[in-house]
Amino acid sequence: MAVLKVRRYGDPILRRRARDIEAVTPEIRRLVDDMIDTMYDEVGIGLAAPQVGTSLRLMVVGDEEGRGAQALVNPAISEQGGTVTAEEGCLSLPGIFADVTRAQWVRLEAQDLEGRPVAITARGLRARVFQHEIDHLDGVLFIDRLDPVTRDRIKRRIKKEGFAEDVGHRAFAL
Ligand code: NI
Repeated sequence: MAVLKVRRYGDPILRRRARDIEAVTPEIRRLVDDMIDTMYDEVGIGLAAPQVGTSLRLMVVGDEEGRGAQALVNPAISEQGGTVTAEEGCLSLPGIFADVTRAQWVRLEAQDLEGRPVAITARGLRARVFQHEIDHLDGVLFIDRLDPVTRDRIKRRIKKEGFAEDVGHRAFAL
């Protein structure tokens, strides 16, 4: 088990569409262990494989108390409803936070590490984490979902100041 380096905004892997996983190999199991270590080290509650440099459709999510962690293989949202706006951050954009509007609830379908189908209906923070991480698998970052004025302001700030570590805020990063 190891803590991996989290790729930051500007790294082209974050903009690529990740590939489906055809079989869970020992390498993928090792990657999951490392992703869980990395997520907890970064005080994140979700992490997608492209964020640690592997372009595969794989994500790990923590529970809201930060104890358990679950790996989801080839996740997809099959149903969603409502809209809700809340502040969001991303481990790949440290120190950047903005209000993002997303579906209020989602039904996520995926496989577990044994290849068994998993379906989870989630609302609240967990629904937000699922949507944020699936975006990562499609090469989408949360700043892409902001209005153009806010997005440009954030991009200019990153260009000028780089990333600041905003420790007090990190628990919200995905
Ligand atoms: Ni993120």
